[in-house]
Amino acid sequence: MPVPTFTAETLEPAARPTFYFIGVTTGSSSIQRVFPAWAAELGLDAVLKGIDLPLHAPADQYRRVVEFIRDDPKSMGALVTTHKIDLFQAAGDLFQQVDYFAKLMGETSCISKQGGDLVCHAKDPISSGLALDAFIPPGYWRDHPGATVVSMGAGGSTIAISWHLTQPARGTDRPARFITTNRSQPRLDHLRQVHAKMDANVPFDYLLNPTPDLNDAVVAAQPPGSLVINATGLGKDAPGSPLTAAARFPQGGLVWELNYRGDLVFLDQARAQQATLNLTVEDGWVYFLHGWTQVMGEVFHIQIPTAGPGFERLSQIARDTR
Ligand SMILES: NC(=O)c1ccc[n+]([C@@H]2O[C@H](COP(=O)([O-])OP(=O)(O)OC[C@H]3O[C@@H](n4cnc5c(N)ncnc54)[C@H](OP(=O)(O)O)[C@@H]3O)[C@@H](O)[C@H]2O)c1
Repeated sequence: MPVPTFTAETLEPAARPTFYFIGVTTGSSSIQRVFPAWAAELGLDAVLKGIDLPLHAPADQYRRVVEFIRDDPKSMGALVTTHKIDLFQAAGDLFQQVDYFAKLMGETSCISKQGGDLVCHAKDPISSGLALDAFIPPGYWRDHPGATVVSMGAGGSTIAISWHLTQPARGTDRPARFITTNRSQPRLDHLRQVHAKMDANVPFDYLLNPTPDLNDAVVAAQPPGSLVINATGLGKDAPGSPLTAAARFPQGGLVWELNYRGDLVFLDQARAQQATLNLTVEDGWVYFLHGWTQVMGEVFHIQIPTAGPGFERLSQIARDTR
């Protein structure tokens, strides 16, 4: 049962310390049940409220929401999904502090208050990196020379993942290529622009693949050990998979579905080949946990563990609410 949410027009001053979730249909998200349980565990006196905005909302709605959070004393901050790029473009000038990743990627997933400043961060490079590191061991790419990444879907997650896996600080522990496919051209162009600013020195490919059979061909051509990612949202945000039933994953490869709920056809396709091809198959659960806890750490000025028993406990609490 969805819980009540705000719109840009219905926001009202918070009676209790409030953490907002800015999305499209926030009332039906599982975080509505998870957050109260986490708040109790972490000793936070705060409630979560959703703010629903239409896709590509008018700029004045984004500005109204950001100004409201800035001006309302009990509004602590927000996690932003879906609107990360649009909100930053419409309201980026309202922040006194903008972190390195938000500037580089032109988006924000995290609004917080630090002292008297309104602050925004792009947390996806950190949270997707923590999720990747949880199933790809250190040295993996060095040990699999030639292995590549194919990320299907050229949105915010692929930007973040591509940064994490190709940053120069990784030295030789980087994939041989990073290939992104997308059904339309504009996001591929945006990704290319972000990569140009990153100076990663890993070859990037940007492939316009309007139909899944084209993705099949790209995936089939990758060397053993390569990583294949469904970053399109297909399976959750819309039915289906970016691959056809005939697709064949790379021998000994890694497969990552970014979502963890929905009819995840891509995940089923990978699991069907898991044993014969010796695949490591991962869903988006750990990504979900890091995405929220990274933002909560910033908004509530607390350190939340990223591994070990403390992190496992938060994971278990979240699982128990499902
Ligand atoms: N587990 C987690 O906590 C977590 C965290 C982050 C993201 N995610 C999930 O990961 C997915 C991607 O997130 P994102 O932030 O990168 O999304 P995004 O910025 O909206 O990008 C999605 C990309 O996929 C493409 N796409 C969308 N629908 C498609 C379809 N029907 N067929 C083929 N391509 C399609 C889009 O193409 P166009 O450019 O043509 O529109 C777009 O480039 C979402 O489902 C999101 O929920 C999960």
